[in-house]
Amino acid sequence: MCLELASRISRIPVYPVASGYDLGADVAMLASNESYFEPLPEVVAAAQAAIGRSNRYPDPAYAPLRRALADRYELPLDRVALGNGSCDILLAAGEALLEPGAEVVYAWPAFSVYPHLAAASGAREIQVPLNSEDRHNLQALADEVTVATRLVLVCNPNNPTSTAVGLDEVEQLLERVPRHVCVILDEAYVEFSLRIGDPFASLELLRRHPNLVLLRTFSKVYGLAAMRIGYALCGSPGFRTAVDQVRQPFYLGAATQAAAVEALRHQDQVERRVAQTIAGRLALEETLRGLGLRVAESDANFIWVHLPLPEDGPDAEADVLSGLAQRGVLVRSGSSLGHAGALRVTVGTEGENQRFVSALADVLGGLLEPGT
Ligand SMILES: Cc1ncc(COP(=O)(O)O)c(C=O)c1O
Repeated sequence: MCLELASRISRIPVYPVASGYDLGADVAMLASNESYFEPLPEVVAAAQAAIGRSNRYPDPAYAPLRRALADRYELPLDRVALGNGSCDILLAAGEALLEPGAEVVYAWPAFSVYPHLAAASGAREIQVPLNSEDRHNLQALADEVTVATRLVLVCNPNNPTSTAVGLDEVEQLLERVPRHVCVILDEAYVEFSLRIGDPFASLELLRRHPNLVLLRTFSKVYGLAAMRIGYALCGSPGFRTAVDQVRQPFYLGAATQAAAVEALRHQDQVERRVAQTIAGRLALEETLRGLGLRVAESDANFIWVHLPLPEDGPDAEADVLSGLAQRGVLVRSGSSLGHAGALRVTVGTEGENQRFVSALADVLGGLLEPGT
């Protein structure tokens, strides 16, 4: 017997999770843009101490964590939203802002969760193609804003293509979007961006644009993907109130809150890890370009590689992916992320990066034209 489900369930796309997930296996896990650094011992200890008090519900105001973020970014407390991962805030934003008749505008390919928002709410989505450098075309995005638009999503740096646009371009977009339309700047990878240069830079935009929301996460740069913590820095308190209204009261566990507060205290270590990741990324990009591959200019902790396949298509691409998997390297296929004929690979340890390069060279064999 089949259950009768809400009609939107058939519209909501299934999130493309990484295949071959096995934390114990000897594989290079380069498919999910995680940090290859484990959490700091102080962060683990803070989470463990909180688990010891788990008989009580977590702080429903999330006060220490919101205060720590408000202090760090010099914002009033009521403009800091939290979520069970930044995905949680995105989905809540969809629920709070969208409905049939409304429109959401975003570039494509971008983060795989964005299509969920329109599908779940019944709103219309407008996907704007990236430019030939795999980068957002923000003017084209602004052209799509209509009286029906409620939400504009800009993924910067963009997942899956790794590219970033400068904040001057973002500001030009903001100047073209009416003040009642929410713009979410998804900055999950902002700390890795040399083009943006400074994770505090976009805070300046918040002062001038009350409809702007900066969406961030502890999953990447803080290495806490499994703890599920995201946050949003809001141009005005209305966004935070709305996303809190559509969610359950206790969306963030006590251990998670404690881990995040502690993680924020170790910015020197965070910066050291970022520098190491960027060095690995630059080396990886150079090596792949040396093999003759077209690689997007990355501002994230992952890179986007165009495959020199005879015909760009999911079949040839799938063969490359399975060839890599057979060699113990997990990456993400372009077709699962909205663009066939490419792959997305997370920057790993030096050993993992080398393993990926030699596996890819092996799989692509005669298709490579080194030095071009
Ligand atoms: C662009 C972007 N935004 C948001 C997220 C969600 O991150 P989380 O829910 O782990 O905070 C991700 C995760 O990969 C991402 O790539």
